[in-house]
Amino acid sequence: MSIIAVVGNKGGTGKTTLALNLAAGLAQRGETVVIVDADPQQSAYQWRLTGSEDNGLPDVVAAAIGLQKTVLALSEANTHVVIDCPPSIKAPQAEQALRLAHHALVPVQPSPMDLWATAHIAKVIERLRPENPALMAYIVISQLEPRTTLSKLMPEAAAALDLPVARTSIQRRSIHRLCVLEGKSVFQAGRRGAEAAAEIHQLLTEVLTHG
Ligand SMILES: Nc1ncnc2c1ncn2[C@@H]1O[C@H](COP(=O)(O)OP(=O)(O)OP(=O)(O)O)[C@@H](O)[C@H]1O
Ligand SMILES: [Mg+2]
Repeated sequence: MSIIAVVGNKGGTGKTTLALNLAAGLAQRGETVVIVDADPQQSAYQWRLTGSEDNGLPDVVAAAIGLQKTVLALSEANTHVVIDCPPSIKAPQAEQALRLAHHALVPVQPSPMDLWATAHIAKVIERLRPENPALMAYIVISQLEPRTTLSKLMPEAAAALDLPVARTSIQRRSIHRLCVLEGKSVFQAGRRGAEAAAEIHQLLTEVLTHG
C-alpha cells in the first residue's frame, strides 16, 4: 500500500496533471487506486467529471475538508492513494498530506523562482519528520523543454536543493493539455500519448522501488 502526495509551493507547476496521470498509470498496471483531491480549487475532481463515467480511469474523491479521515478510509480499500495538493505548502491540506504520505513528489518548472520556492517544502518535511520518518520526498522537474539552456541547467541547479531530484523528469508535451481537456489520461491517448505515458511509468517505477 502506498500514499503518494503531489505537493508544491507554486501554482501551475503540473501537480494535478502529474497526480492524475500517476494514478492512471497505476490503474493501467492493474492496481487499485484512487485520487484524493485535497485542493479546494477541485481541478482533479473537475477533470474526472469531464470524462465519461466508465472510462476505466481512477475515481477522484474531493476531500479538501476531512482529508485525513478520507485518505485513511480509502487506503483500506485501495493499494494506492494519490493526493493532489493545493499550490501552497502553507495550506493545511498540504501539511496533512505530508503527514500521511509514503512518497511526496514536488513538481518544479525549470525556473529559478520555482526552485527557490521548494526550500519551504524541505523545511516543512524536516519539521514533520518525527511524525513521518519514512517519507521519501523528491523534486520532479516538470514541463521540461530539453533543448532550452535553462532546462539543461535545471538538474544541476536542483541538485543544490535540500530535496533529492528524481532521475525521471516530465517533459512539456501538448498531449498533456489535450488529455486534461478531454477528461483523459495520457494512457488513453494511443500513440500520441506513448512518450508521455512511458515517462509516467518510469517515474512510478523509480518512486515505488525506493522504499
Ligand atoms: N507536462 C506537461 N506538458 C504540457 N503542459 C502541462 C504539463 N503539465 C501540466 N501542464 C499544463 O500546465 C497547466 C498547469 O498544470 P496543472 O493544473 O496540472 O498544475 P497545478 O500545479 O496543479 O496547478 P495549481 O497550482 O493551480 O493547482 C495546465 O494547463 C496543464 O495542462
Ligand atoms: Mg492543481
